[in-house]
Amino acid sequence: MSNTTLRGRDFITLMEFTRDELEAILEAAYDLKRKQIRREPHKLLDGKTLFMLFYNVSLRTRNSFEAGMTQLGGHAHFLQPGAVYTPALKGEEQAYTTERISDVARVLAEMGDGIAIRIYGKHTGWLYGKGNRIVREFAEWSRVPVINMEDDMYHPCQALADVMTMQEKLGELRGKKFVMSWAYAGSVEKPLAVPQSAIIGASFFGMEITLAHPKGLELDPNVLSFVEKNVRKFGGSFKVVHDMDKAFKDADVVYPKAWTAQPADGKRPMDPEKAKAIFEANKHWITTEEKMALTNDALYMHCLPADRGQEVTDEVIDGPNSVIIEQAANRLHAQKGLMALIM
Ligand code: CP
Repeated sequence: MSNTTLRGRDFITLMEFTRDELEAILEAAYDLKRKQIRREPHKLLDGKTLFMLFYNVSLRTRNSFEAGMTQLGGHAHFLQPGAVYTPALKGEEQAYTTERISDVARVLAEMGDGIAIRIYGKHTGWLYGKGNRIVREFAEWSRVPVINMEDDMYHPCQALADVMTMQEKLGELRGKKFVMSWAYAGSVEKPLAVPQSAIIGASFFGMEITLAHPKGLELDPNVLSFVEKNVRKFGGSFKVVHDMDKAFKDADVVYPKAWTAQPADGKRPMDPEKAKAIFEANKHWITTEEKMALTNDALYMHCLPADRGQEVTDEVIDGPNSVIIEQAANRLHAQKGLMALIM
């Protein structure tokens, strides 16, 4: 396992890594997955501690990091705002219950070997980019690696597990049609992190990427430019369509999930009334067996939790093409590969 370029690195977005580096992380993930299945010891992080700061709730992320650290011989320590002083950005007003990130990051870095953070949505006042700024301020002050466990822009650990799952199911990804589609949900509180990270991940591996969504639910233009640039570099293609059926035609992988567009200037918060109106006008963006029949027998992917009956029918998500459990399970293995190399 080579760690020459990865030791000590922060993991905030896949955009800051090369394809070789991502392949090294995936290679480590496959190796550790094999070892875990055979119950071969692999205590590569013996005695090490990962501090996990969760502003938002989690099933998969928390438990995959905790189990992963235990399997690697270390410990993952769970912290929740309310149980600790809430970390505050430089320039933010100090309150009785807050503590400056520069102090929190430096203190935790003295006691452990990594800091992982999840923050998006109401904890950032729905100001797009603020969650990412918080994660980056931790990284600026921490002398140990900082891992993004999902902010308001990126969910890179999910994207690693997504690529791993597609590779396991399809083999070579080059030339395969990958559809990241918006889907209807009853709640508009849905960050952009998963769809943005999914198309970023696919763009490193030569996939034919289609992004589908109703007008008004555009992703961050900087992410779209990055994906366009990456497909020029690594092959494949990228297009945006506004019709779910058209997008699904001949797809090898479909990944339909809800997200809420947010002003990308980071100055205005998401407008829930406007978002609600777009969502309610597009209830037909649901993945059904009829829509799956348009595909090339595609894999059905979802990061979970899914809004059943809104984003997708039970028949599809519990059907033979669904790989949602493998995807969730690969969170464990992908993050173990990541932690083993950066920590
Ligand atoms: N996919 C994902 O990040 O799941 P959790 O919200 O349960 O962590």
